[in-house]
Amino acid sequence: MAMAKGRHSRMPGRRSSSCTLVLYLLVMLSFVLLMLLALGILSLPINTSDSPPANDLSSIVHSVERGDGLGARGEQWTEVIAWEPRAFVYHNFLSKDECEYLINLAKPHMEKSTVVDSTTGKSKDSRVRTSSGTFLKRGRDKIIRGIEKRIADFTFIPVEHGEGLQILHYEVGQKYEPHYDYFLDEFNTKNGGQRIATVLMYLSDVEEGGETVFPAANANFSSVPWWNELSECGKKGLSVKPKMGDALLFWSMRPDASLDPSSLHGGCAVIKGNKWSSTKWMHVSEYKV
Ligand SMILES: *[C@@H]1O[C@H](CO)[C@@H](O)[C@H](O)[C@H]1NC(C)=O
Repeated sequence: MAMAKGRHSRMPGRRSSSCTLVLYLLVMLSFVLLMLLALGILSLPINTSDSPPANDLSSIVHSVERGDGLGARGEQWTEVIAWEPRAFVYHNFLSKDECEYLINLAKPHMEKSTVVDSTTGKSKDSRVRTSSGTFLKRGRDKIIRGIEKRIADFTFIPVEHGEGLQILHYEVGQKYEPHYDYFLDEFNTKNGGQRIATVLMYLSDVEEGGETVFPAANANFSSVPWWNELSECGKKGLSVKPKMGDALLFWSMRPDASLDPSSLHGGCAVIKGNKWSSTKWMHVSEYKV
């Protein structure tokens, strides 16, 4: 009885001591692993090769460059034109094929351009704007959606904030006197709020004249490298010469959301050749189409 009792009491004792040993070893192993991790000798495989580190911006650049548009584009680079107004040129923003596509789409629908009446908010004929033009509905087809996506990538303004693309044609003598793209009336800000920025794309080269001029820019107008190529009108401000495929971005509002009067701009009269351009106006909020 006593022996049996002793045998019975000894067995659980041995089992419990081996369990303690295993537990002790596990705790020690965890401790050693933690020490190794803390000392940086071991590292957890968090940085896998398919997720680039947060400061690697190559994926953003790729998403802009990949843009599967129509036709091949020349070398692309951006240029700061001025900070007052904030104006930038994106060279070879559109391919030649895209420019021709837009012109051909618009050609059968060109109508005499109007300006917005500041008292009624309605469109009216005007001598200050003598071009002809038409609107292409936002998201109208695959090529236009591609261009609108590219504009959103460049401006960081969502596609939904943009009006439809406007295509404009200026013949010799036709121009658009200096004006603001922002509105001073209630009527025109009902949809999408104020216009915040404009992207103006040149769909053709212009032999002479047709510059986009910023007469109120805070800059030394004559310091631009193309000064000697400008028309008399172009020399009245900071000017950008139209070049097929280039896009000019300028902001009508400052970063503090105040209106920027230095964004005053005009289209100089074409002296020789033909000017085709396309405008994308963008608002501070969603613009319903
Ligand atoms: C403006 O730029 C031109 C050409 O670079 C230079 O000759 C002229 O001195 C500048 N004017 C001022 C006021 O800085």
